[in-house]
Amino acid sequence: MYKLSKKGFNKDNIVSYGNMFLIGNGHLGYRGTLEEFSKDEMVGLNVLGFYDKYQNKWRESLNIPNPFFAVLYNDNKSFSILNNKENEHIISLDIKHAIFKRTTKFEELEIKSERFISQSEDNLICFKYQIKCKKDIDLKMDMGCDLNIYEINGPHFPLKEINESNNVITFKGKTNERKYIYETNQYIFPSNVKINHFNNGIYNLNIKGQKGKTYTFYCFSSIDEYKIQKHKKYNIKDYKELLNKHKEIFDKKWNNSDVEIIGNKKAQFAIRYSIYHLLILGNKKYQTSIPARGVSGQTYKGAIFWDTEIFLLPFFTLTDINVAKQLLKYRIKTLKGALRKAKLCGYSGAFYAWESQEKGQEGCSKYNVSDPITNKPVRTYFGEKQIHISADIAYGLINYTNISGDESLLLEGGLEMMVEICNFYISYATFENGKYHLNDVIGPDEYHERVDDNAFTNYMVYHVIQMCVLYMNKYHKYEELVGKFIYFANNLHLPKVNENNLIEQFKDYFKKEDVYVDEVRKRIRHPQEYWGTKNGVAYNTRVIKQADVITLLVLLSNYFNDDVLKANFDFYYPYTEHGSSLSASMYSIAASFINKADVAYQMFIKSATIDLGVDQKMFAGGIYIGGTHPASNGGSYLSLLFGFAGLRFINDKITLNPHLPKQIKGLKFKILYKNKKYKIDIYKDNSYNMEEVYD
Ligand code: IFM
Repeated sequence: MYKLSKKGFNKDNIVSYGNMFLIGNGHLGYRGTLEEFSKDEMVGLNVLGFYDKYQNKWRESLNIPNPFFAVLYNDNKSFSILNNKENEHIISLDIKHAIFKRTTKFEELEIKSERFISQSEDNLICFKYQIKCKKDIDLKMDMGCDLNIYEINGPHFPLKEINESNNVITFKGKTNERKYIYETNQYIFPSNVKINHFNNGIYNLNIKGQKGKTYTFYCFSSIDEYKIQKHKKYNIKDYKELLNKHKEIFDKKWNNSDVEIIGNKKAQFAIRYSIYHLLILGNKKYQTSIPARGVSGQTYKGAIFWDTEIFLLPFFTLTDINVAKQLLKYRIKTLKGALRKAKLCGYSGAFYAWESQEKGQEGCSKYNVSDPITNKPVRTYFGEKQIHISADIAYGLINYTNISGDESLLLEGGLEMMVEICNFYISYATFENGKYHLNDVIGPDEYHERVDDNAFTNYMVYHVIQMCVLYMNKYHKYEELVGKFIYFANNLHLPKVNENNLIEQFKDYFKKEDVYVDEVRKRIRHPQEYWGTKNGVAYNTRVIKQADVITLLVLLSNYFNDDVLKANFDFYYPYTEHGSSLSASMYSIAASFINKADVAYQMFIKSATIDLGVDQKMFAGGIYIGGTHPASNGGSYLSLLFGFAGLRFINDKITLNPHLPKQIKGLKFKILYKNKKYKIDIYKDNSYNMEEVYD
């Protein structure tokens, strides 16, 4: 139940499998590609928190040279899967321990490889490559550090320096922003291998293969940013030791974070696979946060979105508090960037970057998508108008504090951050007809740009200000601002629940054309066309990209009753395209609240299996947006705990109100709550048991 494997080879799946078989450690990511692959197959060794800008292109996170390039050949044949797709071939991912393996059988020989990104050593990736000869055969092999890097908006290394000495290849790359990155790649070759020559990062080797013999190669690759470190010299024994330590660390992580689903193998694998993708992103050592596409590549510029605080942070708060802390520390640390952005846009306080890079600078460009027919860039306003981002971050901190009981972050910059966030909204608001309005914004539904009074945004802001005031009073800090904040919150326009129990997503949304998703889909002229912006097919209709009012009702569920949730669920569901991977989990949780167990299950499966298919949305408006979907992975975890199990924290107590769908016969999981660990079992009849555990 912890193994993903795929048999056979199909060129069309190279990109999807690259994502699906990704390994990572929250700082480095290595895509699930094969050793003979290069730039065209999107091989990617991605480094988080390390960015560069080339000319006037997008600033993005970096891929660096691939130290594990290897291809075998002889005078007759190249033993590359790209030329021999009919051969027996299997790739697998041990999701319990983040280990990638491949086996490919040719008539003359068999290739096996294995790789993992060490959990015990900083920035170390370990690689093993084996050739088993089925007959005597003279082979040649190219092995080493492939300098052909796949980049979306590169080239990022105007200077690439390669040196070799004693089977160690060092790469020094200087970026356009004049920053350095180093790779130290130590290779261990079997004794009968002769180095012919070394050229541009690649060894050319001769292997006198003997029938029945296996030849094993190793590579230990250490990555350093900014400054080269002293590296240990590894030997063959180290590989095994490192692997064992690596596995032990992962076992501990799973001990806290596993969710057992009884009676449904598909759902069980899907949630474990989702958890896997979260575990390869948690890293308590790095003062960075998790980008929207994790460590799978450069999509969305390697930037950090609201995805982290709303969809990922709860998972880490409940399973590994040190990682959760680190994610919030990143926001506290990047407050300066948010203050700068607000000032630049003409406001006070903290306006966080919609796509945040290492110092909190805005990575979002003005032209985020392009028209696939004309190829012309399309102006979008995500960075300038998706103001809910600041409230989402504050919401994340509030939620963390409530669940963990840890108030240290509030006292170490968190409260200051919240105060500046409130200051921002006050300066952004317009006072009209006796109320404050947040006009000209974009809510979670990105298809409707520049709308007034988005309900999600206004309620989130209201909530954050209320909580901020509570903390200000509690800690006797910023007390001079209390009156101003309360006045603003009390006079902020909060879209009312109407006579049909509906909340209008934004001002005049109900006046939009009343058509459902399928009708709008018929109107598009190109499959990669972007539905949003004023010229997009969805703009004049009620069709929305993703859960918007429903996200509000899930996040602030205690502000509304079930009748409101039910009415809004029924209303918005047929208008929702789920064009964002952040949508399905919110609908799943909402559906559980109102006893729509079948939809809850379907939406959970949609969210949890997003990276298991080969048909994901790879382009939006002509721009590559492929990669893994951590928010969807986090959302599927939340669907189980907050949806199916009905987990809540009320008056400092854990409460459960299970609604298991019929497809699931039980759930088992552990959570951390206020410094204690609890084991929770939900049974088929929705009864449950909860006990404190001390493991
Ligand atoms: O943050 C999301 C947004 O809500 C929808 N577009 C993609 C972003 C990154 O996942």
